[in-house]
Amino acid sequence: MVPRRPAFVPDESGLLFASFAAEARLSKRKDRMAAAVQDLKNLADRAVAEIAACADDAALEAARVRYFGRRDGAVTQATKQIATLPASEKPAYGAAVNEARARIEAALESRGAALRGAKVDQGLGEREDVTLPGRPVRVGRLHPVSRAIRDVSRIFGTMGFETVEGPEIETDYYNFEALNIPPGHPAREKWDTLWVSNPLGDDPKMPLLGRTHTSPMQVRIMEQRKPPIRVVVPGRCYRYEATDAIRESIFFQYEGLAIDEKLTMADLKGVLYSFARQYFGSQHNVRFRPDYFPFTEPSAEIAFSCVICEGKDPQCHTCGGDGWIEAAGCGMVHPAILRRVGYDPERYQGFAFGGGIERLAMLKSRAPDIRMLYQNDLRFLESF
Ligand code: PHE
Repeated sequence: MVPRRPAFVPDESGLLFASFAAEARLSKRKDRMAAAVQDLKNLADRAVAEIAACADDAALEAARVRYFGRRDGAVTQATKQIATLPASEKPAYGAAVNEARARIEAALESRGAALRGAKVDQGLGEREDVTLPGRPVRVGRLHPVSRAIRDVSRIFGTMGFETVEGPEIETDYYNFEALNIPPGHPAREKWDTLWVSNPLGDDPKMPLLGRTHTSPMQVRIMEQRKPPIRVVVPGRCYRYEATDAIRESIFFQYEGLAIDEKLTMADLKGVLYSFARQYFGSQHNVRFRPDYFPFTEPSAEIAFSCVICEGKDPQCHTCGGDGWIEAAGCGMVHPAILRRVGYDPERYQGFAFGGGIERLAMLKSRAPDIRMLYQNDLRFLESF
């Protein structure tokens, strides 16, 4: 209630009245501010209680969004409000917003930490059953044929043979002619050949084929190098052939070649015996028999005793019942070949050998059929 003032001092009374009105407005604003500050306190109290009751991460995240969500969060809204206030009210309201923000943030932080701690405790409380069998780890391994190739390189390597490789598509010259097998020679019948047409045009004087053996590399190496030579050449070969238990149309061979002064058949036998002992162990029998190849003279065939039947099963699928598996051809390099590549056969001699890699892998893995190596049945491949 505004007290009445004497009318004769209008100036003063006018002034007084104005100051009362201002005061009234001021106190109204102060009330509103106090209410707003109180609202913020209540908001923070409610939030802190709610957050403390959050049972899991999802509830906690929902609470965070309720207060700090970018658009509708309660604290976010209050913060935006600050800018709309007159300058005189900003500090008090701003301070209250900051305080509410700090309390709610602290509550979120401490509830989050409590929930994380509870999770760890729960994990620690779980018991491991140490008697359960372990989960097997699948271990990769080399294919038996790859292993045999590496074994061949390693074992001949210990005897000074360097591993080299050569082309799988050969010319008629290196595959046959340079090895004393001219066109029409009956030895060609020994090799069923897959001819290949040249995409750049066929040269009738130089037909191409999938090499039928690795022996062409004997000539290529002798042309490229000077004696002494000791190389072993593993590689894929091709024959137009029906497959059976010990034959494939695509298969691997290893070729060996040594050229030096005073090499004899005894050196050849020593090297191959040593190889057989290192590859199979000493219990394995090795047999040399005379044979014929146009590019070696004399020639021999080397056979290993059958690991499947040990020579005891006349019906053996793998050795055909005779107890031996032909494993390689070999012999002394023919003097005509030495002459053809410009070596003097009076001074240099050499021996060569060539055998099937799959035969080795079969004997070692006791696979009764060569085709098992290429069927990619993991039950078979994983058993080595
Ligand atoms: N290349 C012959 C074959 O495939 C084997 C062989 C190699 C024979 C070297 C003698 C010397 O049957």
